[in-house]
Amino acid sequence: MRSLIDIVEFSVEELDELLKVACDIIDNPQKYSEKCKGKKLATLFFEPSTRTRLSFEAAMLELGGSVIGFSDAANSSASKGESMADTAKVISCYADIIATRHPLEGAPLVAAVNASIPVINAGDGGHCHPTQTLADLLTIYREKGRLCDLTVGFCGDLKYGRTVHSLISALSRYTGIKIVLISPDELKLPDYIREDVMEKNGMEYIETRYLEEVMPQLDILYMTRVQRERFDDLDTYERLKDSYILTLDKLDTAKKDMAILHPLPRVNEISVKIDDDPRACYFKQVRNGKIMRMALILKLLSETDKHWDPFEDTVKNKYICSNSKCITTVEQELEHIFKKNDDGIYRCIYCDSQANKEEI
Ligand code: CP
Repeated sequence: MRSLIDIVEFSVEELDELLKVACDIIDNPQKYSEKCKGKKLATLFFEPSTRTRLSFEAAMLELGGSVIGFSDAANSSASKGESMADTAKVISCYADIIATRHPLEGAPLVAAVNASIPVINAGDGGHCHPTQTLADLLTIYREKGRLCDLTVGFCGDLKYGRTVHSLISALSRYTGIKIVLISPDELKLPDYIREDVMEKNGMEYIETRYLEEVMPQLDILYMTRVQRERFDDLDTYERLKDSYILTLDKLDTAKKDMAILHPLPRVNEISVKIDDDPRACYFKQVRNGKIMRMALILKLLSETDKHWDPFEDTVKNKYICSNSKCITTVEQELEHIFKKNDDGIYRCIYCDSQANKEEI
């Protein structure tokens, strides 16, 4: 059973095919209006969302299907202690496909390996957000006409910014991409993206704290929110929250055709005065998100007989995960499963964090 948990599960050819279908949906929406007649999408959102949940729901409705689900863990039996695995087995009896968001990293993978229907990761903690990446790719493609030979700046919370992690992973598949990482020291990109994605794929990248210094180089500026909900220490959040505020005057040195993206919601990091600048693409990104989710639902519902085994080449129950926000550290009955990377480091299959050094 095919699911989408991490964007790297899709090949470049598959991403290109999704983009092609999305462009056809934009041009010929009527052609798709009954493609999912009789099918049900379940949206299981254990964490707040405006765009992702409602765009999934709008996507399924525009495909002629219907939607069930919940938007708050407090309204589900998770609040009574039901596990993610049991929830996925139960929802498989009611729906044809699941989209789920969870504050614990790896929760959608637990759902996917326990469900008998496809599962889509709609965001897991600070880990991945593959369907935001689909929205980002379509936006870049429509604005720049290509997904290669681009200098892409990521600015803000690169540590917890799951949309950043997923988009860098996707861009690592394309040629001529230069990544510019702009963040305070405390919010730098996690090692597993730097080492296992960027360095492994030979991506060119630089790191800086200063947005203004690199602005003239950028073809894409991807702004992000500093995410209050991911901080254990709110004093640190208060100190870092306004690290970067994009204002019109800071765009003076930017390329005239630079595209400004932001996954939204924004808090204070892009002045509303930029919204009317032709370079502002973040509301186009929202529309593109619904279209790409339509293409994704169609793809996964047409591939239910395809083999997918996320546990290939893994070791079980030899180590435990070092990440307190990983689902394996909270749902105690789960097995601890790791994959060894090229540098001999064992990374948790659920959240990509390093194994604790001690063997168990
Ligand atoms: N971009 C995004 O994930 O937005 P929501 O949190 O509103 O779904």
